[in-house]
Amino acid sequence: MAEQPQAIYLKDYQVPAYLIDTTELRFELADDQTLVHSRLKVRRNPEATSAQAPLELHGHESLELCRLAIDGRELDAADYHREGELLTLARVPERFELSCTTRIHPQTNTALEGLYLSGGMYCTQCEAEGFRRITFYMDRPDVMSVFTTTVEADQARFPVLLSNGNPVASGEKEGRHWVTWEDPFPKPAYLFALVAGDLQHIERPYKTMSGRDVSLRIFAEPKDLDKLDHAMDSLINAMRWDEEVYGREYDLDIYMIVAVDFFNMGAMENKGLNIFNTSCVLASPQTTTDAAYLRVEGVVAHEYFHNWSGNRVTCRDWFQLSLKEGFTVFRDAEFSADINSRTVKRIEDVTLLRTAQFAEDSGPMAHPVRPASYIEISNFYTLTVYEKGAEVVRMLHTLLGAELFRRGSDLYFERHDGQAVTTDDFVCAMEAASGRDLTQFRRWYSQAGTPTLRMADDYDAATQQYRLHVEQQLPQTPDQVEKLPLHIPLALGLLDASGADLALAEGATTQVLELTEQRQTFVFEQIPVHPVPSLLRGFSAPVRLQYPYSRDALVFLMSHDSDGFNRWDAGQRLAVEVIQGLMAQYRQGEALQLDGALVDAYAAVLDDESLDPAMVAKVLSLPSEAYLSELADCIDVEAIHLARQFARTELARLLEAPLQRRYEALAPTGVYAPDADQVARRSLRNLCLSYLVALEAPAHLARARAQYDSCDNMTERQAALSLIAHSGFETDAAAVLEDFYQRYQSETLVVNQWLAVQACDPKPGALTRIKALMQHAAFDLRNPNKVRSLISTFCGINAVNFHDGSGAGYAFLADRIIEMNRLNPQVASRLLTPLTRWRKYDAARQALMQAQLRRILDSGELSRDVYEVVSKSLG
Ligand code: ARG
Ligand code: ZN
Repeated sequence: MAEQPQAIYLKDYQVPAYLIDTTELRFELADDQTLVHSRLKVRRNPEATSAQAPLELHGHESLELCRLAIDGRELDAADYHREGELLTLARVPERFELSCTTRIHPQTNTALEGLYLSGGMYCTQCEAEGFRRITFYMDRPDVMSVFTTTVEADQARFPVLLSNGNPVASGEKEGRHWVTWEDPFPKPAYLFALVAGDLQHIERPYKTMSGRDVSLRIFAEPKDLDKLDHAMDSLINAMRWDEEVYGREYDLDIYMIVAVDFFNMGAMENKGLNIFNTSCVLASPQTTTDAAYLRVEGVVAHEYFHNWSGNRVTCRDWFQLSLKEGFTVFRDAEFSADINSRTVKRIEDVTLLRTAQFAEDSGPMAHPVRPASYIEISNFYTLTVYEKGAEVVRMLHTLLGAELFRRGSDLYFERHDGQAVTTDDFVCAMEAASGRDLTQFRRWYSQAGTPTLRMADDYDAATQQYRLHVEQQLPQTPDQVEKLPLHIPLALGLLDASGADLALAEGATTQVLELTEQRQTFVFEQIPVHPVPSLLRGFSAPVRLQYPYSRDALVFLMSHDSDGFNRWDAGQRLAVEVIQGLMAQYRQGEALQLDGALVDAYAAVLDDESLDPAMVAKVLSLPSEAYLSELADCIDVEAIHLARQFARTELARLLEAPLQRRYEALAPTGVYAPDADQVARRSLRNLCLSYLVALEAPAHLARARAQYDSCDNMTERQAALSLIAHSGFETDAAAVLEDFYQRYQSETLVVNQWLAVQACDPKPGALTRIKALMQHAAFDLRNPNKVRSLISTFCGINAVNFHDGSGAGYAFLADRIIEMNRLNPQVASRLLTPLTRWRKYDAARQALMQAQLRRILDSGELSRDVYEVVSKSLG
């Protein structure tokens, strides 16, 4: 058996023994191979501990070394040692020039790391450790260098040649041409990028706050040129916002974004040359839903914000990944909240956190925001590092207040511009700027797991004292048994009997309590009546909150809480309780009976025309099966599905008339625009339609089909499509799916939606349909977007079918993982997620899932990515 991959530990970090001041690269792109010539100016790091340390260069096994020379002297195999991913030179001068030539094969690179082909174009993905698939290098983020890159290729087929920075020279000879790019900002290799292809672009000028002119360019294949305006608008909004809110402006003369079809993740912030998954940049009314418009806006902003939080100040090592990702997610979330509905944005982010991140935090891959070890860093681009990391930054913002937080961020950028630093450096800057002691707060970075807050209260009318008792508990996680209390900001308000906020400390209606001990009691004086507490307003900390709310209190908060997030959350709590009640009835074989309190509450919200329709849509959306599963100790797949379906159908039956009324009243009035007002109307209208279609009545099906036929945009069409496709009207379902494919077969991203709609169809027989779709021309195992649309959607969302008691879904997924492990380890590893949750299911399913994990483990040579997740899941 091959040697098992070893873990890397944060505690073993050492400064680099050498530094690379300048990096000159020359790429000769050809059909059968690419030659990469590098010239590095290297010198010993004065801060290195040993003066005699060897030079260690990273190079992937796939690299063919053609030439290696020091100061012009050719080296041969006796001069270096190559083993695994390291090439070691035992003795090198204090300062020297290293020249290297490697041969690589982008056309057979299916891992989509390093240099690869997407469609017909060359592109790169170097974060985290992709640069070592291009050439031998010190591929670690604390080695920062000034890059000059020349790209040479066939002129007719690759008219556009791009790299980081500014173009400084170009030329042509005999049908080939070349362009040299210079990036003056020292950067780690993970921010390197190259693109070569037959691309077109749109361009807009931008003047920064200090008056510098920047050219903004977004590139895509010619057929997608008409889908770039929204990304451009988003970019400009993001640039302005970062100037206004953080005082940060752009620093190069050109900012480029390139859209590529084959991409492992969402997008990448390469200096001056972002590379984006098409799904995160292209947008047009006919092909893109409102949700996707918002996603494009958020991701464009995210990658732009990285120019400061990530590029100008980067990570010392990959354990610090949340330094840039947590901070940048917080920044993009605040940007989206500022230009759209703040409450709706918060609801969506918390929904993701509470379903997927909480699940990760209680599973075998649980890790702190700053992990202490990893086998494969690609596995740590997680909801914990990103989303929980952003919550940690948000808590700092809450504890310090906007003004001190801004002072802290100014200090952070000022102190560390041009450096590779740690999450602790970030906290130190916040500490220094605010004067607050954040010693205990730092535990959020090092302790894994989701804290539970158990709360209780009492009221003494005689003394007018209201007392709130809080106990925090942090569960054990892999490798972490002992946990210490966290510093938790708990925002709350107290409502009187009329629903008005009582005045709290200093007259405020929301107060932030700071929990620091395992058990604490907070006393509120001069509280005239027994209040209803509105706890954890705005979801002020990433915790599970337990407080014995009565259903009456939840209904009361739903209609009165001044905190929009908590109004919604009260509705969610009520719906969760009601559905859990139905699940219990189902398990006991009783007839299901929906609690009228939920119906009345929904009726009131549905009737309230003063509310933002987007909020109404959120409040009236039942908690997802995934969230109900996360809340369960042992997931009963059928009970969750049936109880939720029953609640939906009953609500539709009892509220049919008002649902229909609102559906009609919200009919589109003008031409499609993805603006807040229209987005809100469409979201509520489509929600109404989804309830109505749940009744399985021909009239409502006809309504959906009419919407499908007459609408002028993808948001309405896709909503109608999935409702009809998932309905019991099989003939109509088949017809609408066929029509949709015929209309959009040339639009890859739309076809991916078509795959996803079918993948999450809960009707029986899904696996057979998925297998058939894998043979369809629209599917391609090498394209991660297609794998996600079909396979991840089926296994992650279509619970009743994936978790079929036969175990066929598990075997199917294991087959795909074994296949993908060879093609694309990163994607293979992510496909594993549903199987890692085996402990949450009944004994029979546990056995079936474990058997598949073992089958994967025994299937032959596993990538580090897959090995790490499988072995930790079984361990
Ligand atoms: N830094 C990118 C972002 O904006 C993510 C890139 C991750 N890529 C990867 N292969 N793990 O979040
Ligand atoms: Zn990022």
